[in-house]
Amino acid sequence: MHKLRVGIVGCGNIFPMHAISIKKNDQLDLVAICDIKKDRVEKEAKRFETKAYDDYETMLKEAKLDVVHICTPHYLHAPMTVLAAEHHVHVLTEKPMAIHVDDAKKMIEACESHQVTLGVIFQNRYNKGAAFLKDVLMKGKLGKIKSAKCQVTWDRSDDYYMRSDWKGTWDKEGGGAVIDQAIHTLDLMRWFVDDEIDYIDASIANRVHLKIDVEDTAEGLIQFKNGVRANFHVINYNTMDSPVTIELHCENGIAKYTDGLAEITYTDTSKEIVGADPRERLDYGDVKSYWGVSHIKQISDFYQTLKEKKKPVIDGNEALVTQKIVNAIYESGKTHKKVYL
Ligand SMILES: NC(=O)c1ccc[n+]([C@@H]2O[C@H](COP(=O)([O-])OP(=O)(O)OC[C@H]3O[C@@H](n4cnc5c(N)ncnc54)[C@H](O)[C@@H]3O)[C@@H](O)[C@H]2O)c1
Repeated sequence: MHKLRVGIVGCGNIFPMHAISIKKNDQLDLVAICDIKKDRVEKEAKRFETKAYDDYETMLKEAKLDVVHICTPHYLHAPMTVLAAEHHVHVLTEKPMAIHVDDAKKMIEACESHQVTLGVIFQNRYNKGAAFLKDVLMKGKLGKIKSAKCQVTWDRSDDYYMRSDWKGTWDKEGGGAVIDQAIHTLDLMRWFVDDEIDYIDASIANRVHLKIDVEDTAEGLIQFKNGVRANFHVINYNTMDSPVTIELHCENGIAKYTDGLAEITYTDTSKEIVGADPRERLDYGDVKSYWGVSHIKQISDFYQTLKEKKKPVIDGNEALVTQKIVNAIYESGKTHKKVYL
């Protein structure tokens, strides 16, 4: 059977989650990887027995890729997707889709006009607890959601930012705690609520960090058109990565989601609890545990839909909604006004 020829651009922190997920799929061939840091790409090419490139366009021209995974800094996601589409290569990009909504729309347009597929990684939707809670909500067991709230209180020190040549900047990262860390939780919360957004009213600040100009704090309200008020609280100056929490107050009970564990308490006091299965653990090497085990699930799902010529579950249009939330939080935080979507 013909194996799909896959490439990855960006061999940094998140690279192993993609490379290992591709290697474990016997329908895929990791034929090329690319990074401007030559030592890095050559080391990884040896480890994964593939060809190294230090120039993205050359990889696209020479490697005859079917699909490219984009694992580079945020500001490169849009131009790299457009270039891949022009070379008729399907794209699976890491979150966030882009820095600005306009760039995200250009990505969608380019992929549509060149008839290639665009997928965006939000792997936490594939966590067991998240998928279970979504299923319960869709089946109507909890009734309507009345309100929602989420909290992301993590530790990203000035040193963390100083170790990166792009994080902590508006032009390359596109923001701080919201676009990079809290984006996963905001995406989950709006996926659970599953309605159109009316407006966002938010504040952002840098309260603690000395060496970055992006926000380390954000709080606010996402007002959905169905009346649900979803509140968020985000900081990057906690002294530890506290468990991420989402709480949904529903007609028939309360759902709590804590770092992948879903706990539902129905109004009749019965409970359902679903969390990660420890047998699912996959050794991605030296990567952070909260990135979870779900990259491989989303990546195999992406390829399954590609094979079936269907659109991926999280395609460009789906990810665009979360991009709009992120950008509206920033606009509202900067203008001190409600931003209507
Ligand atoms: N889904 C998740 O849970 C998760 C977790 C971590 C990171 N990420 C995302 O993954 C992406 C990468 O983050 P990271 O932490 O791995 O960053 P990183 O800085 O560790 O790695 C980025 C790599 O891209 C390379 N690069 C930069 N410009 C390039 C270019 N023009 N051509 C080729 N390579 C280039 C850099 O040299 C670097 O090796 C970001 O979008 C980030 O938000 C997602």
